[in-house]
Amino acid sequence: MTLRAALFGARGGIGAALAAQVCADPAYAEVWLGARSLLPGAAPDAHSFVFDSDDEASLAAAASTIGGELDLVLVTTGLLHRAGLPLPEKSYRTLDPAAMAELYRANTIGPAMIAKHFLPLLPRGRRAVFAVLSARVGSIGDNRLGGWHSYRAAKAALNMLVATFAIECRRSHPLAVIAALHPGTVDTALSAPFQRGLPDGQVQPPAAAAAALLATLARLTPDQSGGLYAWDGTRLPW
Ligand SMILES: NC(=O)c1ccc[n+]([C@@H]2O[C@H](COP(=O)([O-])OP(=O)(O)OC[C@H]3O[C@@H](n4cnc5c(N)ncnc54)[C@H](OP(=O)(O)O)[C@@H]3O)[C@@H](O)[C@H]2O)c1
Repeated sequence: MTLRAALFGARGGIGAALAAQVCADPAYAEVWLGARSLLPGAAPDAHSFVFDSDDEASLAAAASTIGGELDLVLVTTGLLHRAGLPLPEKSYRTLDPAAMAELYRANTIGPAMIAKHFLPLLPRGRRAVFAVLSARVGSIGDNRLGGWHSYRAAKAALNMLVATFAIECRRSHPLAVIAALHPGTVDTALSAPFQRGLPDGQVQPPAAAAAALLATLARLTPDQSGGLYAWDGTRLPW
């Protein structure tokens, strides 16, 4: 059987590495790579589409263009900081409503809107995977260090949505795996300002993280749907 995949965020550090590996996997006969702007020649064998997760109409249009059934949907978008915003926070004293709203839009609402338009494309009668990149810092049970308030809260809300989607889809898509993933600390623009002082070996190259994430997704079973999993397959507490 030939498989079809779609990936959101193909220009991102981890997203580009995942895109390259899915495109190189002969199991996938058709791969759709999405980004905020066109990806000329990124993967000659892939189809590309433009979306902005803040723009629901662009997601509806992408779902209609791609159509058919998708065996793998990967959501690799997200935001931790950008110039001009007081992020990530070290204290509640610096909480800023506009910055919080922007992180919730990028890390929670955007992926939820992608789910709204793309969960219906999962096949009902065979295994399929819908996975979003979340973060370990979004685990409430694992929060020992504090800080990064808005990012943590946005990813915690994303983890809750993933758990809720899994419950809702259990009856309609009994063989589906819906998962939140922690990629580890990966060498990308998102983590670059925070890599200093980390122990040697803690920061993974994007290609290594992507390979580990895809291997983890390949092992997850429908009864594990709804959970938060680290790149190495460890289940993390919500
Ligand atoms: N790197 C790490 O150590 C690490 C650790 C834990 C979790 N994560 C999570 O892993 C995911 C990927 O992170 P990364 O390190 O690859 O970051 P990255 O290189 O900054 O990539 C993030 C991507 O998200 C896209 N994006 C943001 N907002 C969007 C929107 N509204 N619509 C469409 N695309 C949007 C960006 O698009 P543009 O290219 O157009 O800006 C960018 O390509 C994120 O969810 C992050 O929270 C990363």
